[in-house]
Amino acid sequence: MEIKKVGVLGCGLMGSGIAQVSATAGFEVTVLEVEQKFLDKGFAGIEKSLAKFAEKGTLKETPQAVRARLKGTTNMQDLADCDIVVEAVIENIVEKKKMYAALDAIAKKDAIFATNTSSISVTELMSATKRPERFIGLHFFNPVALMKLVEVVKTIATAPDVYDTAYEFGKKLGKVPVRTSDKTGFIVNRLLVPYLLDAVRAYEEGVGSIEDIDNAMKLGCGYPMGPLTLLDFVGLDTTYYITHVMYDEFKERRFASPPLLKRLVMAGWYGKKTGKGFYDYSDPSNPKPNKL
Ligand code: 3HC
Repeated sequence: MEIKKVGVLGCGLMGSGIAQVSATAGFEVTVLEVEQKFLDKGFAGIEKSLAKFAEKGTLKETPQAVRARLKGTTNMQDLADCDIVVEAVIENIVEKKKMYAALDAIAKKDAIFATNTSSISVTELMSATKRPERFIGLHFFNPVALMKLVEVVKTIATAPDVYDTAYEFGKKLGKVPVRTSDKTGFIVNRLLVPYLLDAVRAYEEGVGSIEDIDNAMKLGCGYPMGPLTLLDFVGLDTTYYITHVMYDEFKERRFASPPLLKRLVMAGWYGKKTGKGFYDYSDPSNPKPNKL
């Protein structure tokens, strides 16, 4: 099947990024949110990002031409004619399943449903619909506009032609797709999460300061961000949630949350988005490590 119209559920950090790269690739995009103010915030971020790309000369069209392919809605009915719907709402299994069940009744019979979940079982989400063979995972990375990867996740029920269509769709978005299957964490988080949690444990055990741990991995391994900076960037609440799902699945200590991560989350220090995490972002251009 040919994908022409893309639906996106959620206009947060990930949803707006997915909408942006889809519109940039030439697709007509409709983004669903629960309230107009979330659409306004997401679209403002998209406009800022498109302006940056235009400034650098990496956008084939004007930002306005890309923006014209993006529509926001608070009415799910507006997704009825989408060929693929990518869901990027909050990682809450009950909420996600409710949305899928409602969308299943509205969307075209042959529309593909994709979830951007980072850790919830794609198979479990699929079970909320009557289209198991047309359900896949498309896991993007933050910031979506810049990160080249998309994990294309199949379940035991995914139809091969649906998988191939989704894989090609990933390519059309300018991403490098990798093939993986519905095992918690897929490829990236399976490897990344234990590394990030080990960085927290190293700090807890006094192996190094926050800055030194970050600089060690940045400068010693050529990573763009140190692990504690990356944790603040991804969101400590998000990572904490992922640890629960992964620990529950594998029952291995490497996936369990270190006590410090839990304390930071309980304190409401979720990282960059709340202005505090391993670092203090009062001056966003010059984050200072917190005394933890
Ligand atoms: N849109 C357009 N341009 C953007 C942008 C955006 N949203 N964000 C940044 N840029 C531009 C900047 O303006 C800058 O442009 P310039 O070179 O012309 O000045 C350029 O991109 C580089 O940005 P910065 O100078 O601010 O910072 P960096 O060079 O460090 O790059 C980064 C930023 C790409 C985020 C880089 O630090 C990086 O790759 N970090 C690691 C991110 C990562 O690992 N993400 C995955 C997280 S895991 C995940 O998402 C999975 C989930 O399930 C948990």
